[in-house]
Amino acid sequence: MASERILLTGATGYVGGTLLDRLVKSHDATILKLKFDVLVRTKEAAAKLEAAYGDRIKAIQWPGLTDAEFIEKTAANYNLIANVGSGFIEVGARAFVKGLAKGKEGKHDAPAPWILNISGCTNLADKPLTGTPYPDRVWEDAKSREVYDWEVEQEALTPYPQRSTEVAVLTLADELGINAVSLNTPLIFGEGSGLFNRQGIIIPVLMRYTLMHGFGFKLTETANFDWVHVEDLADSYILLIKRILESEDRGVSAIPHNKDGILFPTVGRALQIEIFQRCLDAAFEAGLLPREDTPKEKEIRNVPLQEIADEITAGLLDMAEQGWGGNKAQTGTVLKKLGWVPKHTQESWAQDFKDELIALKEGRRPWTLDSCIGDTGKKAEA
Ligand SMILES: NC(=O)c1ccc[n+]([C@@H]2O[C@H](COP(=O)([O-])OP(=O)(O)OC[C@H]3O[C@@H](n4cnc5c(N)ncnc54)[C@H](OP(=O)(O)O)[C@@H]3O)[C@@H](O)[C@H]2O)c1
Repeated sequence: MASERILLTGATGYVGGTLLDRLVKSHDATILKLKFDVLVRTKEAAAKLEAAYGDRIKAIQWPGLTDAEFIEKTAANYNLIANVGSGFIEVGARAFVKGLAKGKEGKHDAPAPWILNISGCTNLADKPLTGTPYPDRVWEDAKSREVYDWEVEQEALTPYPQRSTEVAVLTLADELGINAVSLNTPLIFGEGSGLFNRQGIIIPVLMRYTLMHGFGFKLTETANFDWVHVEDLADSYILLIKRILESEDRGVSAIPHNKDGILFPTVGRALQIEIFQRCLDAAFEAGLLPREDTPKEKEIRNVPLQEIADEITAGLLDMAEQGWGGNKAQTGTVLKKLGWVPKHTQESWAQDFKDELIALKEGRRPWTLDSCIGDTGKKAEA
């Protein structure tokens, strides 16, 4: 029997690169039978991936996530797609769902195909400075429908590209008889294992801020992030892939999906002031702080929203407020019930701040927010 091929985006990215690497290197019997078609935007990336991973993968050059026609045509050839490149490009995400639906036309006895989406926790944040603060709110993926309903309501008020995309994928999949899951991802940390970008965003950004200014910042006392190591996040996708491929009903009864399909791959939670405290501890311990022109004590200052938006989120106030001021606590239990066992817990989290400084010192941080949100002209983070 020919091996099943699954389609992946983001192979040059932090999450997608790590996922592809772990898939190709997995010794799991189900995963070993798979081949991976990866959509990449350059010839160079295609050549590098094929040289490293041989015939387990096929790189397909594509114009990108805004070419709906190409995506629909391509997606029609697959039963399982992991769109983990960018969570911000609605037109592309919708086209994947439409393509899957097209591929299913006339195949009434075949199980419905799946799309695994990526999204992020800023979708769920309150607006503590310009709107109503909800400092005690904790979202639960066991009550995913409530999360979906709230996101739909918010979209009607203030669309936010990453949330628009998440809602669109789940809603359209429901309408067209496709199965969709969206991993609403918290802060991702740790070194990735892909061939291209291996770094996250949030710890590098906050560490850079700390080193540049000599202090941390706060917009509120309640801003927080849940967190997950990039390898564990990749493994949560692999778990879903296995559950889909290994069960007779292709995972439909086990995996909550579509309007119930917003799942949280979360492991721990930290206030942002705790994250800055760890940045400061690492920088002071390494002797990088204090400097002559920086505070002699470890300090986390109140800083105006506009200043943070200008410095970190390209002037976008809502993104700064949601990302760096918002409460977005997420309790994830569904993936663990499905069998996900994250390996990186408190120890890895604490170590990451030291590792981040080493990475900075070794010049492994030519980072930008642009590629994380895609080329939509807007910048954002998680
Ligand atoms: N990183 C985090 O801490 C974090 C936290 C929460 C949620 N997320 C979610 O995870 C997503 C992926 O994050 P990441 O850190 O893996 O990002 P990344 O390292 O910047 O990778 C982005 C990937 O998406 C591809 N891509 C971007 N725009 C594209 C476009 N217009 N057309 C085709 N491909 C495009 C990039 O391909 P090229 O190499 O061709 O540009 C790259 O492979 C984010 O968009 C966000 O929704 C991330």
